[in-house]
This record gives sequence, structure tokens and C-alpha cells, in this order.
Amino acid sequence: MKRTEFFSAFGITAGMLFMAPVLSSCSKSMTDSSNSNGTGGNTNGPVDFTLDLSTPAYSGLNNKGGSVVVNSIIVARTSAGTLVALSAICTHQGGPIGFESSAGQFHCPNHGSNFGLDGSVINGPAAAPLKKYNLQLTGTSLRVYA
Ligand code: FES
Repeated sequence: MKRTEFFSAFGITAGMLFMAPVLSSCSKSMTDSSNSNGTGGNTNGPVDFTLDLSTPAYSGLNNKGGSVVVNSIIVARTSAGTLVALSAICTHQGGPIGFESSAGQFHCPNHGSNFGLDGSVINGPAAAPLKKYNLQLTGTSLRVYA
């Protein structure tokens, strides 16, 4: 049996063979960009990274009110001096979360949602809390993990 006879026996055309890799890659892309827990944040894999607070990029976290966004997670030092890590993606429509140290809360500028230091909703329109991450400070090494 020739190759063309084999494919036509199963109703496969040359166009279908050409489209197979394209359809396969679209499916993978959609899976990679999904948000599996519905609470915002980086959920496309395990979260576990370390920030060196002795480097200029992260040294702001040594000061009360300092904050950085890394891997879609906002890490902040509160006015009380404690460190907090939350998803930096608003649970309403994905706006960028910022830290307002004077108010002691996290804020989304898109529609005005505010979140507490534990990620809970203070006021909407967001209805779901921000995902909270664990922190472990060893010297100047700050580990952020789920
Ligand atoms: S996207 Fe944050 S309040 Fe709407």
C-alpha cells in the first residue's frame, strides 16, 4: 500500500497532516497560561525562589514600606517590620497590585480594590483574596515559596 493510499484509507488529507503540529502547540500554550486555583497569582508551577537582600535590586526590602515584584509576587516590608508575600495579580481582572505602606494594605489601581496584609479583600470589586506565600529569612537571603 502506498503512503497516499494509506492516508486516504483513514480519511487523512495533506492539509490535516500540516495542521497537526499547529493544533498541538495551541493546546499546550492554552494550558501553560491557565490559572488553576482561581485566586490570582503565579500558579503555573511551584513557587520557590530566593532574593538576596544585600543586592541593590532587593535591598529596599530592608526598609519599612519597601516592596518589590518578582515572578508576579509582591514582597513587602510592613511598617511594623514584618515581611509579607502575596500574588501581585489582582483577583478581579488581573491588575497590578502595589503596596501602600502608610495605609498598611495592598492596592489595585485598575478599579480600586484593596487587600489586607494577609491578602484578604478589604474592599472590591475584587471578591477573592490574593494568594499568600511563605517566607523564610536567613541572614540576607529571603526564600519565597508556596
Ligand atoms: S483589576 Fe483590580 S480592581 Fe479590577
